[in-house]
Amino acid sequence: MFKMLRELHGVARLYERLFLDIIVSIFYTLFGGLLPNLHVPYRPLDGKVAIVTGANSGIGYQLSLDLARRGATVYLACRNVSKGEEAVQAINQDLDRSPNHVDSKAGRVQALQLDTCSMSSVKAFAARWTDEQKGKPIDILIHNAGISSTPKGQDVTEEGLGTIYATNFLGSFLLTNLLEPSIAAGARVVFTAAAGQYAGNLTSLLSSPGGVPKPSLFDKLLGRKTPDSQLYADTKLMQTAFASTLQQRWNRQPFAGKAMSAHAFMPGYVYTPIFSKTANLPIYVDPVWWALKAFMALSIPVEQGVATGLWLATTNELEVRRHGGSYWDRMTRRMSPAHLMDPGVLQRVWQCWERDCGARWE
Ligand SMILES: NC(=O)c1ccc[n+]([C@@H]2O[C@H](COP(=O)([O-])OP(=O)(O)OC[C@H]3O[C@@H](n4cnc5c(N)ncnc54)[C@H](OP(=O)(O)O)[C@@H]3O)[C@@H](O)[C@H]2O)c1
Ligand SMILES: *[C@@H]1O[C@H](CO)[C@@H](O)[C@H](O)[C@H]1NC(C)=O
Ligand SMILES: *[C@@H]1O[C@H](CO)[C@@H](O)[C@H](O)[C@H]1NC(C)=O
Repeated sequence: MFKMLRELHGVARLYERLFLDIIVSIFYTLFGGLLPNLHVPYRPLDGKVAIVTGANSGIGYQLSLDLARRGATVYLACRNVSKGEEAVQAINQDLDRSPNHVDSKAGRVQALQLDTCSMSSVKAFAARWTDEQKGKPIDILIHNAGISSTPKGQDVTEEGLGTIYATNFLGSFLLTNLLEPSIAAGARVVFTAAAGQYAGNLTSLLSSPGGVPKPSLFDKLLGRKTPDSQLYADTKLMQTAFASTLQQRWNRQPFAGKAMSAHAFMPGYVYTPIFSKTANLPIYVDPVWWALKAFMALSIPVEQGVATGLWLATTNELEVRRHGGSYWDRMTRRMSPAHLMDPGVLQRVWQCWERDCGARWE
């Protein structure tokens, strides 16, 4: 009886922490611009190999630049290689300007083709990594590619997957699976997640194969569909849940001792082109996205937006090494609903991900 009460009390405490973290998160998202700047201690990364997805723009570009400035070899995985190459040029120009560049930077930053919404593109990328890059050990893998909504009429990919689901999440799930043998000891895998995860729903995936929501007859009649902001929030929760479950896998044999860790982070509300890439939605279609777009003035500069991710990818602090599988906001560990989910449910969701992309985790 007492044991049960104590357990109940423990669970209540966890929910209380989750509730407080949601409040903090809303505050940080809205007023990030008024908070003190984050500072990421400099750590040289010479000889380290990093892959960043969606690296030609916004947060992914800034992360790639910051990693390259610290001496890492950086692969920019982009859906449009010409855009990737333009980003490589811009990074090289920046490195040239920096006063203390001593190493030969030639070839240290490269663009590679990767379309995260296409599972065949993900497979081709992984195969090329094994062939052309000889399965080079990866020290930093940043899953950052993402979209907030889909262009009109492109809700489902050619492979029959929900486009937002495939782009923001499933591609990174399969990529991690295929690249796992190349992930170096001590490596960091980092997901650009979002506070939107607090509005996410993992279990809806159980009833929507391929991440394509099935509208009810009623919804069909009214021409209603799930708002993109909801689909987006779901993928952000998936990233957090995946980081946490992946960490549990890596804490077991044969990975235990390799000190690989996975983290999800919230960049803040960051000034990037993400919302300008799709049509302007009227307020009644997706009020959440409408409001965020309307309040662009509250967003923080991208140099600040990457701070937590850069820190997770590079720091040697015990706090980060010890707490693999966590969700972080402003360089602080926060609760996610994923951390309170029933392991059985998480396992079923994991099976959905495997089914949708054909991944097999041995
Ligand atoms: N901005 C924010 O306030 C905010 C807040 C929380 C989380 N985030 C997350 O941060 C991440 C980066 O977003 P951002 O704000 O930096 O926006 P962004 O500037 O639009 O960057 C997104 C990147 O992802 C790439 N991408 C999109 N679809 C892709 C695909 N199918 N395959 C490969 N790459 C693809 C984009 O390529 P193209 O240039 O070709 O489109 C671009 O390089 C996203 O995951 C987003 O959810 C952003
Ligand atoms: C790829 O990027 C280049 C350079 O920015 C642009 O001219 C081209 O239209 C893009 N291709 C596609 C398919 O979007
Ligand atoms: C998630 O979605 C499922 C099915 O669409 C629904 O039954 C469930 O109540 C939702 N959960 C939350 C927490 O909203």
